[in-house]
Amino acid sequence: MRILTGIQPSGQLHIGNYFGAIKPAVDLQPRGDCTYFIADYHSMTSLFDGAARRQYTRDVALDWLACGLDPQKSLLFRQSDVPEVCELMWILGTLAPMGLLERAHSYKDKTARGISPNVGLFAYPVLMAADILLYDTNLVPVGRDQKQHVEITRDLAIKFNLAYGADTLVIPESEIRDETAVVPGLDGQKMSKSYGNTLEIFGEEKPTRKKIMSIVMDSRTPAEPKPDADKNLAIQLLKLVAPADVAADYENRLRAGGLGYGDLKKALFEHYWNFFAPYRARRAELAADAAYVESVLKDGAARARAIAAPVLARVRKATGLA
Ligand code: ADP
Ligand code: TRP
Repeated sequence: MRILTGIQPSGQLHIGNYFGAIKPAVDLQPRGDCTYFIADYHSMTSLFDGAARRQYTRDVALDWLACGLDPQKSLLFRQSDVPEVCELMWILGTLAPMGLLERAHSYKDKTARGISPNVGLFAYPVLMAADILLYDTNLVPVGRDQKQHVEITRDLAIKFNLAYGADTLVIPESEIRDETAVVPGLDGQKMSKSYGNTLEIFGEEKPTRKKIMSIVMDSRTPAEPKPDADKNLAIQLLKLVAPADVAADYENRLRAGGLGYGDLKKALFEHYWNFFAPYRARRAELAADAAYVESVLKDGAARARAIAAPVLARVRKATGLA
């Protein structure tokens, strides 16, 4: 079974990315052939700074490797190192109705927020379909926000097979995990790079402590019981980074009254910091060897290309290009 997912190099990764995308992807490694890539072509629809893209691409690769992606077992590569994906995108684009793409949430959300759309943003789901179909993918683990894109991929694959031959493209399934589907940000909204409410996975100690200590809470005194303790943002985040019994103990103390928000936030920082400590150490080791990450990406791209070649040959033959 081929499992594939991509992540855009558009900024520093946060714990929403970790619990929503990286950890589930790393946990899937024993279940199939994992194919993970850094979607640098996709990042071009919203990031227009080459030096920043290069830096973020390297950072995302380091983050994946530090968080447990095993490059012996799984593929990690840069999307643009397999430019064949652009050819498949063109072919799929000729089967994609304008109306289908006009209904894509990501496109509608961005235009609604006043971002003036470029052709790349409009065609974004077609490139994503090409990413998925180029490797005969069976399973695509993604956050809920990407579900529609996988459905568009299935539509395009079915249309292609109808037009050009039943068994040319593999029809993929998405896998959406609901338990960590939405990690809340420091303002209580969905944590997102675009909202400036993130807790980075690998932030510096002092500024991160400051961010956590500045989380705004209500004005109830420490002594007051808080029957809504489970809704408290620090408790919700603590549940992700602390052992279950420790988080439950804080929640009970907050509910009963007697636990101050300052002490709760201190505990959150400590557990956050300790949770990521082994990954931080591993990341520092990997970062010290500049050539290593590049060699993993190049090796991943060579292996990915070998998987893509027969698929593209099938497509070219079916469509009469070859
Ligand atoms: P961002 O919203 O910060 O720009 P991306 O859209 O680049 O994040 O998302 C990369 C991956 O991380 C996707 O699989 C997405 O579903 C997941 N993800 C992003 N934010 C969260 C969150 N707050 N909770 C859970 N998963 C998230
Ligand atoms: N669109 C995805 C995101 O923003 C990234 C992505 C690009 C992707 N191509 C993909 C995810 C293929 C899964 C499969 O998060």
